Amino acid sequence: MRIVVTGAAGFIATNLLERLLAEGHEVHGIDNFFLGKREYVARSLEKPGFTFHEFDLLDRDRLVALFQRLRPELVWHLAANSDISYGTSYTDFDLKGGTLVTYNLLEAMRVSSTKKLIFSSSGAIYGEPTILPTPENYGPLFPISFYAASKIACETLITAFAASYQMKCWIFRFGNIVGGYPTHGVIHDFVLKLQRDPTRLEILGDGTQSKPYVHVEDCLDGMMFGHATAADLVNCYNLAVSDWTSVNQIAEWTIEAMGLDPAKVAVSRTGGSRGWPGDVPKVRLDTSRMTALGWTPKMGSNEAVRRAIQETVAQFV
Ligand SMILES: NC(=O)c1ccc[n+]([C@@H]2O[C@H](COP(=O)([O-])OP(=O)(O)OC[C@H]3O[C@@H](n4cnc5c(N)ncnc54)[C@H](O)[C@@H]3O)[C@@H](O)[C@H]2O)c1
Repeated sequence: MRIVVTGAAGFIATNLLERLLAEGHEVHGIDNFFLGKREYVARSLEKPGFTFHEFDLLDRDRLVALFQRLRPELVWHLAANSDISYGTSYTDFDLKGGTLVTYNLLEAMRVSSTKKLIFSSSGAIYGEPTILPTPENYGPLFPISFYAASKIACETLITAFAASYQMKCWIFRFGNIVGGYPTHGVIHDFVLKLQRDPTRLEILGDGTQSKPYVHVEDCLDGMMFGHATAADLVNCYNLAVSDWTSVNQIAEWTIEAMGLDPAKVAVSRTGGSRGWPGDVPKVRLDTSRMTALGWTPKMGSNEAVRRAIQETVAQFV
């Protein structure tokens, strides 16, 4: 299959590319290295079947021209600003980097008659819901970050294009994804902080934030299973695990995995229930739709976190 992957230099994409290339697909990756890493792209460039295109997805003319030339069969749309706090500092950031980028991509798909899209949405779209675990049909949606507002806008654009131009789409609303080759996130943050200074660790918030952590291998298994199995025009699923892990617990396990004596690490907390404005401190996603489809993750939240810590320590330390 000829496949386009956006955000190809990012965390989830670098793990995805490994699988797609092993399956023998012709894969075209796009990234502008805003958050992605050149060394992650280099991993894929060694393999046959991969072509990398470095440009900003805001450049619609270039994107449309590329799609007209390639006429891909499937798009994995993973590019976004994955740093929620960025959007608070620059209020049009997610509007451009999330919503407008997604519009550009859909328009490129329309003109090249590309009919299949897999999209990485987020459980953040539910804001601070009154129903936990939160099902896919929860509403009304009142997001508390520009990132989440943009993900909702992307979903609505995708379903409008799907209905208007018979494009099939698979929308996955993720829990927190962790694993090898990270670019950001709590584990990446703790490992790098402790590497810089093994005597202290600052936790954002009070550390009691708790969320379902999904290993990237499970995330990719789930997306691939959903894509192969769900056959509606619009397919929308929470992709998470049913348990959760606290940030304080992640800090404890990271200190241990770094081989440090907990008594010699001064742990401080910035305080408040959230790590940053827009952070949702308690996330629980209803996973029963994916279960009914026939898929369950191999790892629970704690196992995913412990494995991701090992992988991150092995990579960076
Ligand atoms: N990692 C998670 O826990 C998580 C949770 C929910 C949703 N998601 C979504 O999954 C997707 C992938 O996440 P990730 O963790 O791999 O993030 P990531 O930041 O590692 O990857 C995103 C990639 O997109 C690229 N990019 C951003 N804007 C671009 C633009 N305008 N043009 C070209 N490239 C651009 C970045 O450089 C980066 O390489 C994102 O859409 C994210 O919002 C991730």
